[in-house]
Amino acid sequence: MSVQKVAVIGSGLMGRGIAHVAALGGFETVMVDVSDEILQKALGNIRSEMEKGVSLGKLSTDAKDAALERLVVETSLEKAAQDADLVIEAIPEDMKLKADTFTRLDHSAPAGTILASNTSSLSITEMAASTRRADRFVGMHFFNPAPVMKLVEVIRGSETSTDTTQFAKSFCLKLGKEAVEVKESPGFVVNRLLVPMMNEAFNLLMEGVASPEDIDKAMRLGTNMPMGPFELADFTGLDIGLDTMETLHRETGDPRFRPSPLLRQYVRAGRLGRKTSRGVFDYATTP
Ligand code: CAA
Ligand code: NAD
Repeated sequence: MSVQKVAVIGSGLMGRGIAHVAALGGFETVMVDVSDEILQKALGNIRSEMEKGVSLGKLSTDAKDAALERLVVETSLEKAAQDADLVIEAIPEDMKLKADTFTRLDHSAPAGTILASNTSSLSITEMAASTRRADRFVGMHFFNPAPVMKLVEVIRGSETSTDTTQFAKSFCLKLGKEAVEVKESPGFVVNRLLVPMMNEAFNLLMEGVASPEDIDKAMRLGTNMPMGPFELADFTGLDIGLDTMETLHRETGDPRFRPSPLLRQYVRAGRLGRKTSRGVFDYATTP
């Protein structure tokens, strides 16, 4: 099955990155969110990222203009889905919200449309069960920032067909990404390894073992990570980290995955990272 039109649901950190990549990859792309104000902000962000690419000589002005022409925004989920070949959901990490959204998408999208979720850790099988097309439902886990990160984890739920898995993998290739196929399991591969490491950094900080700056420096210089665990947690969102730890803990019952009380406390205080101008570090003065 060929893809002409992609609908991306959610225009936050991940949705706008995925829409950016899809439009640049030559696909008609519609980005959906709950208000036009949010969508215009996301569109502005995509435009400025593409303009940065032009000024760095990585993208031609013509390619940027053509990509922006292929990208439209919409507040109606139903309208966006009605002629989409592929729908990629990137709304908050909440099973009820995602399942309700997929039930609506299932009713508006043509029968052949593939539905995909960018969830960080939730069950693809459970989301697929909220639709009548569990065989045409798949996980497509992009990484932040989506225009830069090469990997997409393609997650097979219990009912996902081989054709759907192949379709998702070949779509990733068309976007210039590399795909790995992963069986459904909480956190898949990357977040099962990465997020507990970040969680443990919060435990180290809570125990007073080292300062946040030194914990980040130790991991940057000691393991060549581009960002230390706190810089990365602030970048991806502490709420996403906590949601992932809660899923890992709940689904496995394994005490190794207990969310750090300090991580939980920061999220309760609204310290979600860059998006709220304060996480482990303060960004209030950063433009
Ligand atoms: N959109 C488009 N391009 C971007 C970008 C964005 N938002 N942010 C950075 N870039 C591009 C830059 O233009 C630059 O491109 P070139 O190398 O071709 O010139 C490149 O990325 C590097 O950017 P910078 O030089 O500005 O900054 P940097 O060298 O510090 O790199 C980074 C920035 C790529 C984000 C790097 O710090 C990094 O790789 N960090 C780790 C990211 C990571 O681990 N992501 C996964 C998080 S976990 C996740 O996503 C899963 C989940 O479910 C939570
Ligand atoms: P975000 O909070 O930045 O963005 C979510 C967007 O969804 C917001 O713009 C919000 O207005 C919109 N939204 C909420 N309800 C909606 C609805 N009913 N219909 C349409 N739009 C709606 O979140 P994010 O960081 O982009 O994460 C989105 C998803 O991607 C989550 O499942 C998350 O776990 C996953 N993910 C996040 C990262 C990351 O680094 N942040 C990486 C990979 C995957």
